[in-house]
Amino acid sequence: MYMLGSMTINSRGHLAIGEQDLVELAEKYGTPLYVYDESLIRERCRAYREALNQHYPQGEILFAGKAFLTLGMGRLLLQEGLGLDVVSAGELYIAAQAGFPMERVCFHGNNKSPAELKMALDLGVGRIAVDSLMELDRLEEKASRRRKIVPLLLRVRPGISADTHRYIQTGQEDSKFGLGISDGQVFAAVKKVLKSPYLELLGLHCHIGSQILDSQPFQLAAEIMMDLREEIRLKTGTLLPELNLGGGLGIRYIAGDRPVGISDLVMLLAETLKKKAREHNSTLPRLLLEPGRSIVGEAGITLYTVGTIKDVPGVRRYVSVDGGMSDNLRSALYGARYRALLANRPQEPAEETVTVAGKACESGDILIYDLRLPSPRPGDILAVLSTGAYHFSMFSHYNRHLRPAVVFINGGLTELVVKRETLEDLIRPELIPPHLEKEPDFKTVGELGGSA
Ligand SMILES: Cc1ncc(COP(=O)(O)O)c(C=O)c1O
Repeated sequence: MYMLGSMTINSRGHLAIGEQDLVELAEKYGTPLYVYDESLIRERCRAYREALNQHYPQGEILFAGKAFLTLGMGRLLLQEGLGLDVVSAGELYIAAQAGFPMERVCFHGNNKSPAELKMALDLGVGRIAVDSLMELDRLEEKASRRRKIVPLLLRVRPGISADTHRYIQTGQEDSKFGLGISDGQVFAAVKKVLKSPYLELLGLHCHIGSQILDSQPFQLAAEIMMDLREEIRLKTGTLLPELNLGGGLGIRYIAGDRPVGISDLVMLLAETLKKKAREHNSTLPRLLLEPGRSIVGEAGITLYTVGTIKDVPGVRRYVSVDGGMSDNLRSALYGARYRALLANRPQEPAEETVTVAGKACESGDILIYDLRLPSPRPGDILAVLSTGAYHFSMFSHYNRHLRPAVVFINGGLTELVVKRETLEDLIRPELIPPHLEKEPDFKTVGELGGSA
């Protein structure tokens, strides 16, 4: 059995994280439930920081908030000495409310609204990653009106197609993100920024995609970005002080996934940057990395209760659980695959092949095809592993499902960090305007022409 972080089997034969029995946790908070092994998140934060310290001390790790961000997570990142990458007013607001130092925040997005740019400038974020020439003009206009210098990075499309699902490839030529190199957009942007007294060009940024298991695309991106930095120096005389190589390191969802280790990746990037700097006879840039999935992904488990079990004879056995695409969009969106086990009897032999179905009214709401499990029964607690990244953050209210609670476990400590949504929460932002308040005029269904 594959155990991650502080996952164990306890004396009752139940799945546990640290000292916390997950079956008891499901009883206490209800299901679906997002559970995080806090110590594993911290371990991953430290693995990145230690790898930088060892191989490239002039660097910083910015956690990609899109993977999972709550007030509690913001505090954890602060304690672990990480910076933060945000992509919306919402993420920025959470960072600010968590007391996150704004100079360690980088603001991303391919369509930042004027209100979002204003908010980022008001709060004084450390960097804005500019994604287009149009955004650059908007930013320059705002900065000059304020007479304030805005530090920025230019997001570049390095033209790499990483081997991952096409929905999470971002660095290829045909992408909505970033400025192209070959089409001259990067150089046009560099010229604009260098001319402006209100814009400060700290460096370049790229992010080539997500759930990348292989190290080669990262190395290639680092080489391309260092060459681009050198070309900018030759053409403009300006040596950019920073290089942000984004996130993207994959994790283990299923047994066949073999991601490169954090330390190995950081070492490879460090070597590549040093080699290129020697080749260009220039100084090393400050290196920023923005991992999301590889910090929180494997630390998350989603607990579900098994409900209806249905056989389609000769085809498959559907085991339905009390969540699905609302709390885990990745299966339906990318065909993502997962490992799972029964938290109440994890050691029983897996003698059946079943299909785990979500409860949304969509045929595509299947969480796991062909999962080997001990013969499931209604009331079993199914633990789906590696659900810490892009699950809570991609939650949808489809079918008006309620957002599950989130619990952090650290050794003997179990703490609620997000409460389960209630039916009252669901309708809180909703209004019934006066014209819809009126009771219907008809007295009986018969008056509508139906058969009463
Ligand atoms: C700009 C940027 N940085 C970082 C990340 C984090 O990627 P990952 O969670 O794969 O590490 C993303 C993810 O989409 C991104 O778009």
